[in-house]
Amino acid sequence: MPTKSTKASPAKAVDALAMLMADHKAVKALFKEYEKLAKDNAPDEQKEVLVENVCVELALHAKVEEEIFYPAVRAAIADDDLLDEAEVEHATLKDLIAQLQEMLPYENLYDAKVKVLSEYVEHHVKEEEDEMFPKVRTVDLDLPALGRQMHERKEALKVEFGLADAGAPPSARAKSANGSKRVGKSSP
Ligand SMILES: [Fe+2]
Ligand SMILES: [Fe+2]
Repeated sequence: MPTKSTKASPAKAVDALAMLMADHKAVKALFKEYEKLAKDNAPDEQKEVLVENVCVELALHAKVEEEIFYPAVRAAIADDDLLDEAEVEHATLKDLIAQLQEMLPYENLYDAKVKVLSEYVEHHVKEEEDEMFPKVRTVDLDLPALGRQMHERKEALKVEFGLADAGAPPSARAKSANGSKRVGKSSP
C-alpha cells in the first residue's frame, strides 16, 4: 500500500495572491498594534521596534511585488495605468518608510507619519485587492508558480536585509550588530 511520502517538500506552493493578501493582513495587524501602543503611551523602545518591523515587512513586500509580481501582471493584463499607479504609490510609501527609519519615536510628527503611512498602505492595498487582483484572476497566470518564485525571493531578501535570524525576537532584530540603528535601510 502506498504510504505518505516523507521526502522533503519543495518550497510551499502558495498562490501569489494568497501570499500577498497574507502580507497585507499581517501589516494591517502591526499598524493596529501600533495604534494601541500610541494610545497607551507605551515606551519609545516598543514603538520603535514595532515601526521597524512594519517598515521591513513593507519593504520586503514592495520589493517582491516590484521585481516579480507587477511585471508578470503588467505582461498579462492590458492595464498599464493600473500598474503605473501602483508603482507611483510604492514610491510614496518608500519615501515615508525612509523618513520613519531615520526618526525616533519622541520626535515631532513620528506618530503622524506612522498614521499617514497606515492610511496610505490601506488605500494602496484596497486598490490591489479590489482592482488589480480580480483582473489577475481572469487571466492565464500560473499563480502557484509565481507565488513560489516570490516566496523564494522574499527569503533571499531577508538574508540580504540581515534578517537571516528572522526567528529571533524583534527587539534583537531591530538593532544590527554594528550598532547602526536600522535594518534593511538600504532597501527598497
Ligand atoms: Fe503594492
Ligand atoms: Fe501589496
